[in-house]
Amino acid sequence: AARPITVIRGDGIGPDIVDATLRVLDRVEAGLDYRFHDVGPAALEAGDELIPDATLDSIAETGLVLKGPVTTPSGKGYTSVNVALRKRFDLYANVRPVVSLPGVVSRYENLDIITVRENTEGMYSGEGQTVSEDGSRAEALSVITRDESERILRFAFDLARERGRRKVTLAHKANIMKSTSGLFLEVGREIAKEYPDLEHDERIVDACAMRLVMNPEDFDVIVTTNLFGDILSDLCAGLVGGLGVAPGANIGDRCAMFEAVHGSAPDIAGRNIANPTSVILAAALMLDHVGDSERAGRIRTAIRAVIAEHDRVTPDLGGEGTTDSFTDAVIERL
Ligand code: NAI
Ligand code: MG
Repeated sequence: AARPITVIRGDGIGPDIVDATLRVLDRVEAGLDYRFHDVGPAALEAGDELIPDATLDSIAETGLVLKGPVTTPSGKGYTSVNVALRKRFDLYANVRPVVSLPGVVSRYENLDIITVRENTEGMYSGEGQTVSEDGSRAEALSVITRDESERILRFAFDLARERGRRKVTLAHKANIMKSTSGLFLEVGREIAKEYPDLEHDERIVDACAMRLVMNPEDFDVIVTTNLFGDILSDLCAGLVGGLGVAPGANIGDRCAMFEAVHGSAPDIAGRNIANPTSVILAAALMLDHVGDSERAGRIRTAIRAVIAEHDRVTPDLGGEGTTDSFTDAVIERL
């Protein structure tokens, strides 16, 4: 029987690149039963709530989500749908792999870096955001717990071990944020002792950013807290060709959600020029996750080949292709 998955097409460039991805999944006969649901602006437009109950029920039922980017409406009262879903389903690990692609103009070749970002707490969680009445003072709450730190650090070391990686780099700012980042670093040192087979490395996040630009080949798996992971993973995407090629997985114990690292790209929405690679590669991560590495591998091979040929790549990769023509090329390859 087909495996049910929840598909959230999103808004902006989302629907185009998710539809492209579904065409690819259909081409490899991935055996998935798509349950379409909305969140964010698309849900509001349909007269629903920001996060409709039907969407939450579907995610709870399928435990597997393929998601396009969703715009966070600006203005007070709207929290990020993305952050809300990650919290709601306890998707505590955000895994963002970047791999050099042949034919992509970049300063580097042969990079293969996985950022593992804590996804539920810390500065990025949006907790305690207040501005004083006269607008002169703003506050935010940053909470780091031992439990969450242990969970994400173990996840990262386990992932490194399972995938035969060599080194785990912990990025922190414990020299300044002594309480929060300090706790994360302390727990990291404890957990690292449980994995003597892996090299363990610590870097202060600002210097880490510089080193990623100057010597990215020094990095293998990076584990860090939420906000630093947000920033470093975009940086890593930039090392291999940009946001259009960077997939991400949000993983919990009972549910996992796969999406692009980037957002809804309002600047290019509706023009059929968005690069669907990020979501297609996210779908490949999803297939890996459900144990279908064979199809995941085929999809990656096809993407690499089409990008290497360069004929039909989208403008972000220096081509004149469209979302559709690129996807056609991938499908022909498959
Ligand atoms: P963005 O990631 O949407 O765009 C940044 C830049 O990258 C833009 O110039 C865009 O054209 C380009 N870009 C992004 N994806 C691309 C693709 N597939 N192909 C070619 N070019 C691509 O970031 P921005 O503009 O800051 O955010 C727009 C909205 O997306 C915001 O409302 C934000 O909150 C939301 N967002 C949603 C995320 C999600 O759903 N997981 C993640 C990040 C942002
Ligand atoms: Mg981001």
